[in-house]
Amino acid sequence: MDAEKTSSRKLDHIRICIDRDVEFSKSNGFERHELAHNALPEARLSDMDTSTEFLGKKFRLPFIIEAMTGGSPGTESINRNLAMAAEELGIGMGLGSQRAMLEDPELAYTYDVRDVAPGIFLLGNIGAVQLSMYSINEIRGLVRDIKADGIAVHLNAAQELSQPEGDRDWRGVLANIGKFCRKAGFPVVVKETGCGISGDVARKLEQAGASCIDIAGAGGTSWIMVESYRGSESAKAFLEWGIATAESLMQCRKAVDIPLIASGGIRTGLECAKALAMGASLAGFALPLLKPATESHQAVSRKLSGLAGELRKAMLLAGTGNIEELRKKGCKSTG
Ligand SMILES: Cc1cc2nc3c(=O)[nH]c(=O)nc-3n(C[C@H](O)[C@H](O)[C@H](O)COP(=O)(O)O)c2cc1C
Repeated sequence: MDAEKTSSRKLDHIRICIDRDVEFSKSNGFERHELAHNALPEARLSDMDTSTEFLGKKFRLPFIIEAMTGGSPGTESINRNLAMAAEELGIGMGLGSQRAMLEDPELAYTYDVRDVAPGIFLLGNIGAVQLSMYSINEIRGLVRDIKADGIAVHLNAAQELSQPEGDRDWRGVLANIGKFCRKAGFPVVVKETGCGISGDVARKLEQAGASCIDIAGAGGTSWIMVESYRGSESAKAFLEWGIATAESLMQCRKAVDIPLIASGGIRTGLECAKALAMGASLAGFALPLLKPATESHQAVSRKLSGLAGELRKAMLLAGTGNIEELRKKGCKSTG
């Protein structure tokens, strides 16, 4: 795949995600989990402490902006708006796949956000399949060049299979992740992109040395849907493929001890609160921030502040004053 094709496919994705309905019909599953109500919270909303620590870095909110873009001229403003908002709110951020930057190093500027977000926890991004095509040093260079704190390695077999030009050979991916984790020298987050991660897979990734798993479950952005808008007829049978986010989170939490990021269709602060109570360290959002990021960093901050306000209300109503108490509280499954 040459740089021009990768870059124009990325722009297609952004356009489709902004203009069309690209979400699963099925839900993320959080409606089947409840935080118990506390009618006597004995606390003040403004005192809710949302700060937390993730992989050694302090966050003011337990949020991360999920990987979306970079690699096409014009996408730099999206990344910079996201990064400025992340800096303002004290949260983390992932950049989109840096495959385009491997194919054409001149595109590095589209991922360059450190100057506007010096303090944030920042992740680079690469497809797991690319680990077999480039040397460990080349991948490490991606992180170094954008001054990131680590990298997210994405697993997206369902999306690739629905792209006519997508990868078809997924042999050896786990071994390559293991080799990379051993040599990386920085945190390696392994993530899905909207089909979720099962407990069994999580266990293998933990053994391979992943620092964290971002489950990116089903119920939010559907890449199969995006590819079907790009003309993939064969994708249509798989539109609802994937493990719902809440189910994936429960399976992974039982299976592994490493930190988990809950993402995939998380759309309210209440869903964030439930995800944290079910064992996630952070909640991640992609699609809800895309359109605001095409407007301004203030628009991204407004969206995230709304989610933070809902999280604080959920914490108060559950009778938990900080993130640690929320984690200990747990959620009740209602079926
Ligand atoms: C426009 C767009 C582009 C994305 N590009 C990437 C990517 O390059 N790498 C990646 O790991 N995930 C990518 N994702 C997946 C997200 O990081 C996230 O895992 C997924 O969209 C689920 O979250 P959501 O339902 O809040 O959108 C992208 C998502 C969107 C909406």
